[in-house]
Amino acid sequence: MTSPTGRFQDKTVIATGVASGLGRATVKLFAAEGASLVLVDRDGDRLDVVARELDAMGAKTVPVVGDVSQAATADGAVRAAEGHFGRVDVLFNNAGIDPLEARSLVDTTEEVWDRTMGVNVKSAFLFARAVIPPMRRTGGGSIVSTASSAGIKASPKEAVYGISKAALIALTRSLARDFSSQGIRANCICPGFLECVMTDRRQEMTEDALVKRSARAGDLVPMGREGQYDEVAHSVLFLAGPESSYTSGAALVIDGGWIA
Ligand SMILES: NC(=O)c1ccc[n+]([C@@H]2O[C@H](COP(=O)([O-])OP(=O)(O)OC[C@H]3O[C@@H](n4cnc5c(N)ncnc54)[C@H](O)[C@@H]3O)[C@@H](O)[C@H]2O)c1
Repeated sequence: MTSPTGRFQDKTVIATGVASGLGRATVKLFAAEGASLVLVDRDGDRLDVVARELDAMGAKTVPVVGDVSQAATADGAVRAAEGHFGRVDVLFNNAGIDPLEARSLVDTTEEVWDRTMGVNVKSAFLFARAVIPPMRRTGGGSIVSTASSAGIKASPKEAVYGISKAALIALTRSLARDFSSQGIRANCICPGFLECVMTDRRQEMTEDALVKRSARAGDLVPMGREGQYDEVAHSVLFLAGPESSYTSGAALVIDGGWIA
């Protein structure tokens, strides 16, 4: 892996879903590269732990506890970024849920549909809408969203999750069409199997089911294993930063060759 170069020095990043998993790994890399961070999550206790970890690295952080599907959370995050750091350079839309009870569409309740679309898709709309005016004022920015390989290739019994991630890919393309001319790039990542099942789903799974999920990933993925959060986080920084200056509207698949 690369050594820190300070490439996000003087840059402000708003990142959601950072209290665990991929979000936590990614904000650590941003902090190591010199970024100031607004950290957004619904889980205040775990968010505090992550904020302390980043503070110990010397990073400037502001935690915002809230539900990303609410406009007040997005607006509050932007106010925090402008108030503390004077600008917004990067938005990382990463918070997501994958409710176990949402299986085929026939078995999906309206409540689960609305909750999943709210957290996984509406949040990206709300945060993008909130960051674009300040990004325009400072000459541009970069929006990276966490979609999924499930938004490209349907996974069995994960209907609304896959639909929400396909919508996120479409949202990314729409942002790229409308705002690349103003210096605002939008891209998304599409991870496959990662090292941990997402928190909301993991809580409902038995130890046996978790072991089977890992074995299934080993069988299905050409690389024979799940991806590590750090392996994905480096791609987020690539898309957020200057190395990807001509990339906008991309959906980067990071899945060990699974859906190839
Ligand atoms: N784990 C995987 O195998 C996998 C694969 C492909 C894509 N993804 C995507 O990666 C992203 C991160 O997943 P992860 O594996 O780190 O999961 P995770 O459950 O560890 O992290 C998700 C974070 O989002 C937060 N969150 C959830 N709902 C929220 C809400 N309404 N408001 C604010 N915060 C909220 C959670 O508290 C948590 O900290 C998600 O978008 C997920 O869909 C994960």
